[in-house]
Amino acid sequence: MIEIRNIAQDKPHELFIKYYDEALKAKQSSINAISISSFDFEKNEVESRFVNLKYIIEDKWIFFTNYGSPKAQAFNKHKQICALLFWDSINTQIRIKGKIRRTSTSFSDKHFVGRQPEKNALAISSNQSRKIDSYEDVLKNFEYIKENSDLTKRPIYWGGFEFIPYYFEFWEGKKNRLNKREVFEYKENDWINFILEP
Ligand SMILES: Cc1cc2nc3c(=O)[nH]c(=O)nc-3n(C[C@H](O)[C@H](O)[C@H](O)COP(=O)(O)O)c2cc1C
Repeated sequence: MIEIRNIAQDKPHELFIKYYDEALKAKQSSINAISISSFDFEKNEVESRFVNLKYIIEDKWIFFTNYGSPKAQAFNKHKQICALLFWDSINTQIRIKGKIRRTSTSFSDKHFVGRQPEKNALAISSNQSRKIDSYEDVLKNFEYIKENSDLTKRPIYWGGFEFIPYYFEFWEGKKNRLNKREVFEYKENDWINFILEP
């Protein structure tokens, strides 16, 4: 589930809610798994991975990660994201482009305190995406942190990112392949709306 609070009252967010409610009703699994792509300036490379979208608050879409990870470092330099949801239960893809920044530290603290202790032990113990000698070392680090750390205290290297969309494409797959693609683009203080060929 995505926690949704005071979502923006505009056409693309309204349409998002319509699809989200349909996918919930259709019991979509992993409904909050969202693929996010970042651009690494130094490597001149684009990279994608899934994260769990935790909140949509007003126009901010929020997930959490390690601030030392490759994605976080890429977002520090190139503050733009492309995100993708695909809900097979309703055959719908949603593509989003947005501007990204870190959430406030107080927001990250509040979220961290509310999580299960085991999840926090992992967030504290992992130098996410660094090379490590063995998987046994991963387990050892995790067990050590679980027994020896304050699991309610957020480490400074872990927290939220929020992105504010400026582009949405809703792709609705149809049986006859005449798929519907509806775009909303934020330009000059307003959302413009158009349809793309399938
Ligand atoms: C369904 C799913 C959800 C995930 N959720 C998160 C998440 O919320 N935060 C996170 O840091 N990694 C999450 N991961 C792991 C990431 O995909 C990725 O392996 C990790 O963040 C390292 O990415 P990076 O090296 O590109 O920074 C998730 C993986 C999957 C398959």
